[in-house]
Amino acid sequence: MKFVPSLTALTLLAVSSGALAADKVCKVDIAGTDQMQFDKKEIAIAGDCTQVEVTLKHTGTLPVAAMGHNWVLVKTSDMQGVAGDGAGAGLANDHLKKGDARVIAHTKLIGGGQTTTVKFPTSALTKGGDYTFFCSFPGHWSIMKGKVKFG
Ligand code: CO
Repeated sequence: MKFVPSLTALTLLAVSSGALAADKVCKVDIAGTDQMQFDKKEIAIAGDCTQVEVTLKHTGTLPVAAMGHNWVLVKTSDMQGVAGDGAGAGLANDHLKKGDARVIAHTKLIGGGQTTTVKFPTSALTKGGDYTFFCSFPGHWSIMKGKVKFG
């Protein structure tokens, strides 16, 4: 009779390690406005997420050329450099330098009424690292930015 509870415990252990090994996609919603604002200043990603799916919604009405927004994830120390190079990269390149290796993930640039999504693996992140998200449309990064915490 003693073995019954032990076997049950072993079965539970097997089930929970199976769950840990599985893919866990964590979803994040963020909105940008015609007032050049994101509705979040910080995004927390739990340490057991294997992938992150970020959905950016532009809740305004202004066109992309006037009030474009994207969601760009970088190390905080890379933000100014990526934003500076992105300013001259043009709308067609989502205001990011082509092939910029400092960019961990990004959505495309969108205008009012549009929605865009990007999915990326958390293997690109280090737990406890200092990450920032921002909009790379020229002039927006100084206001449209926030921290990303993983772990
Ligand atoms: Co913007």
